[in-house]
Amino acid sequence: MEESRTLRVNGEQRSLGEVDPATPLLWVLRDHLNLVGAKFGCGIGQCGACTVLVDGQAVRSCSLPVGTLEGRAITTIEGLAAEDGTLHPLQEAWIDLDVAQCGYCQAGQIMSAAALLERSPEPSDANIDDALSGNLCRCGTYLRIRRAIQRAAARTNEGGEA
Ligand code: FES
Ligand code: FES
Repeated sequence: MEESRTLRVNGEQRSLGEVDPATPLLWVLRDHLNLVGAKFGCGIGQCGACTVLVDGQAVRSCSLPVGTLEGRAITTIEGLAAEDGTLHPLQEAWIDLDVAQCGYCQAGQIMSAAALLERSPEPSDANIDDALSGNLCRCGTYLRIRRAIQRAAARTNEGGEA
């Protein structure tokens, strides 16, 4: 049954209008809120293209009913930069190392990386591979992704270049 809902996204309480509580978060983000950074890949929680943060945890938004998210804090790639527009260290590292190829998977990769750095500020390569193992990249950018995460971690921890 459709109900009028609000959702806390990127620090703002957003009105969704009438939406079925079973609707996956990804559809709500893209179709109701015009936040199209998270992508539809597989639709069954297997590729990671739709990854966003819920209360700081990386989740697959294609498989998460919006009705379960009342009062939770959702962050999408559009909300990762600081309020003054300063890019997140991961976004800077991604640009510096020219990580993206086609780009389709990259927002999901960055959001998984952001969750990793929150819980593990100095991740090993094994930590990175483990945390991003569910984020697939058809273009094979995995090595650049790993380097960018290490660079962002070093910058954050030391205030300098990796
Ligand atoms: S689209 Fe959500 S995991 Fe593939
Ligand atoms: S950059 Fe093309 S799928 Fe990852």
